[in-house]
Amino acid sequence: MSDSLPPLIEVLGQPALKIQPPDGSEATVLLHGAHIVSWKPAGADEQLYLSPHAVAAPGQAVRGGVPVIFPQFEQRGPDVSLPRHGLARTRTWKLDEVRQGRDHAQATLVLNDDDSTRAWWPHAFHLELTVSVSRERLDVELHAHNPGPSTWPFSAALHTYLAVSDLTTVRLQGLDGCRFIDNLLGGETIEDHPEKRFHGEIDRIYAQATNLLLRDGPRRLAIESDNLPDAVIWNPGPDKCADMKDMPVDGWQTMLCVEAARVLEPATLGPDESWTGRQTLILLSA
Ligand code: BG6
Repeated sequence: MSDSLPPLIEVLGQPALKIQPPDGSEATVLLHGAHIVSWKPAGADEQLYLSPHAVAAPGQAVRGGVPVIFPQFEQRGPDVSLPRHGLARTRTWKLDEVRQGRDHAQATLVLNDDDSTRAWWPHAFHLELTVSVSRERLDVELHAHNPGPSTWPFSAALHTYLAVSDLTTVRLQGLDGCRFIDNLLGGETIEDHPEKRFHGEIDRIYAQATNLLLRDGPRRLAIESDNLPDAVIWNPGPDKCADMKDMPVDGWQTMLCVEAARVLEPATLGPDESWTGRQTLILLSA
């Protein structure tokens, strides 16, 4: 293991780090938002969708990759005065540690409260995002600590944009039997499709959906989560995509967000308490 910090590269005009274990897998993380913009398992193609029109700039969210959502999800609270999807994805994080092993590589980035976050949200917080890559596997772990005197509720998510060959031909297994809220149609329903198919726009929050499998031709991608019990399934579909400045008109056809989230029941951290949530992606076949 080596703990020295490697030189940063530039991606989307922002400082970034590429982690590469000797097995040929790699991931690239921006300091902006601690945003993973690329993940290639050993011997396989890119697994994440990054919009060719994505912009990474202070105060802006990158379209694609893995945005880190904290402490509010979308505009659902717990503090609705915050920017949509919270504060973490639009701020510059600090690279804290890089570890290079024989069979994995790992980087940890940190974000602490400062004057600009306290102007929006008057709480002390410490966030760590640890990205580990190994052969066919990506682990993304978000850790939150409350170093301050007040108790605060929060929502969190790893808003993963998966690259897909064609949205209309992929299947997502593991949602059947899960209760979901449909953000487009309203109401709550129980999913009864063992293999969910997609035709265009979708925006749903599934409860207790922590073991999913994406099937995309011969590709099998396991999507697992720990302490992030909800799965948000999102695609803007053709009409909304056409209105998004940072997406190509046909971008919706080659992406599907499968987000590991803690949103239906926000968490709470008292003074000196900590919380950790994780999403793991494993490419079972390419
Ligand atoms: C999803 C939400 O998580 O993110 C959608 O469920 C939202 O409602 C989407 O449209 C994208 O949000 P944003 O802020 O990145 O455009």
